Amino acid sequence: MNLHQIRAVYKTQRKENSFHNIQGNNYISTTLSPRTCSRNMVMPADFPEFISSGTPDMEWWKKTTVYQIYPRSFCDTNGDGIGDIQGIIEKLDYLEDLGYETIWISPFTQSPQRDFGYDISDYHSISPQYGDMPLFEKLVQELHRRNMKLIFDLVLNHTSNEHAWFKESASSRDNPKADWYIWKDGKGKNGTKPPNNWRAMAGNRAWTYYPARKQFNYTAFLPFQPDLNYHNPEVKQAMFDVARFWLNKGVDGFRLDIISAIYEDPDLRRNPLSLRLAPSDKSLTIFFQNLKNNFLQEKSFEFATELRSVVDEFDNPRRILIGESHGEEELIKQFCYNNGRNGLNAIFLFKAISTPFKAESYREMLMTFEKHFPEPLVPTLVFANHDRTRVITRLGGSIEKAKLLALFQFTCRGIPFTYFGDEIGIPRVRIPLKQGKDAIAIQHKWLPQFLVDRSVEILNRDECRTPMLWNENPNAGFCAVLASPWLPIAGNFKEINVEKQLAEPHSLLNFYKKVIHLRKETPALHNGSLEIAHDLCNKKILAYYRISNGEKYMILLNMSPSRVRNPVNNANILLSTHHQSEESQLQPFEGRVMISGR
Ligand code: NOJ
Repeated sequence: MNLHQIRAVYKTQRKENSFHNIQGNNYISTTLSPRTCSRNMVMPADFPEFISSGTPDMEWWKKTTVYQIYPRSFCDTNGDGIGDIQGIIEKLDYLEDLGYETIWISPFTQSPQRDFGYDISDYHSISPQYGDMPLFEKLVQELHRRNMKLIFDLVLNHTSNEHAWFKESASSRDNPKADWYIWKDGKGKNGTKPPNNWRAMAGNRAWTYYPARKQFNYTAFLPFQPDLNYHNPEVKQAMFDVARFWLNKGVDGFRLDIISAIYEDPDLRRNPLSLRLAPSDKSLTIFFQNLKNNFLQEKSFEFATELRSVVDEFDNPRRILIGESHGEEELIKQFCYNNGRNGLNAIFLFKAISTPFKAESYREMLMTFEKHFPEPLVPTLVFANHDRTRVITRLGGSIEKAKLLALFQFTCRGIPFTYFGDEIGIPRVRIPLKQGKDAIAIQHKWLPQFLVDRSVEILNRDECRTPMLWNENPNAGFCAVLASPWLPIAGNFKEINVEKQLAEPHSLLNFYKKVIHLRKETPALHNGSLEIAHDLCNKKILAYYRISNGEKYMILLNMSPSRVRNPVNNANILLSTHHQSEESQLQPFEGRVMISGR
């Protein structure tokens, strides 16, 4: 079935089914299994108003779909082997045609590029590698002309150590910026021992000694990314002004890098031991340390509410904030509302990435997210980004599973984010640690390669940042034939590329297109409530409903490698991951969206 057919079936069936739906919410409560969740959730007394209020246009962010672009790797138009803003502009038609409504671009402002833009040396200008301000303004115009939105990274927690503020701050103990970063005296007789045992999120020690100040400097990530001191009101104002600068340029919102790290325990209490060596998506731990005292402080939740007020100064259209934080849902949801005050619109839920691709694990995950992020909160599941193993590799190279995951992601509640290239199945490209350009790879280059190869999670982030595969020309159309791409092109680009997949009706790319459009055109799929159909779920099957204004859809996923009997008598299939769908049974890893007549 092509998209036009899907739409046609959808419209007719919607009419045919409307008499079932006439009773709105009554219908829901009388026909659903009593073991459904989400509707029954109890709202906290201090629940914020803003998330649920406003005109539909103000709520654009709730129904949007986001495509993340790593600008270095997307499309190079000037032959230097590095992607650029002009390249993004040239590919907007592609993204619009796929149906994406928002793009998130990783940082492109001035930076020494040691962490490829997440180390900013000037917040107000564009890195010449990517373009200049007029080109950026053109990008905003081009997006808005298409009724699309732009969000990008606001790196508030730290700057580069080459930022003028830091250079000044590090130069002495009594300069005007002396207190803009976190400086502490060392311990021990000569003060040469770090102030405490804190580790940074990247695994290294959190403290670096600076002889000019005879003091230690704190970094939550890598030593060249010093943390700003948010106890200093001047710092806060300066960074809020950075946000205003970009909002004035028409940016529609921000992805807040490492928002969990804004404040640290002022008493510098030691971090406790943890049993974990590797970092986890659940809690903030690394190298046997629980980063309890340098991350996720109460003041960081309050900070989210202050930032909300700044962003709310711009309300036409409403701008959004999405935070990056690991940690237990119970804790990180406080970024969205804290002590009765509005905070971020959404917080990334990283647990999704490491949840086993199994029906029971996914059901549990949905239950947890629905419990902690009931409507009107919006759970935002992460399946990939520029730091993590590519989706298709995580799924063992299976296109069927990749389609099923896409079906799940675009039909469950929350804002779906796609990392560039996952829509065609770009795999992890193995690049030895020793050749890594990524700062994390460089930091860990002493690790034996065989250990790194055995881990599902990448240590060398170059492996998920290799260039986009546009066609089968040399360099996969990412850059000119004679240019040298900054990272290697995936070896199988002749089989896996946009041009080829657009021409194949049943490709992964065309499935993405169908499911994105279906979500866009079906209110229940982008703003309905979610109810798990527990009575139909088992080891192989995950089933849930999306419901809105009397419309009800069932999503049925066979997450097993065997055929299973279709547990519902329902022929109203709107979309299937498999082009030859049989009514009576689901094929291995088949997923369906159905108009629910139950
Ligand atoms: C998280 C970003 O996703 C990552 O790429 C970056 O290196 C760190 N924050 C530090 O900014």
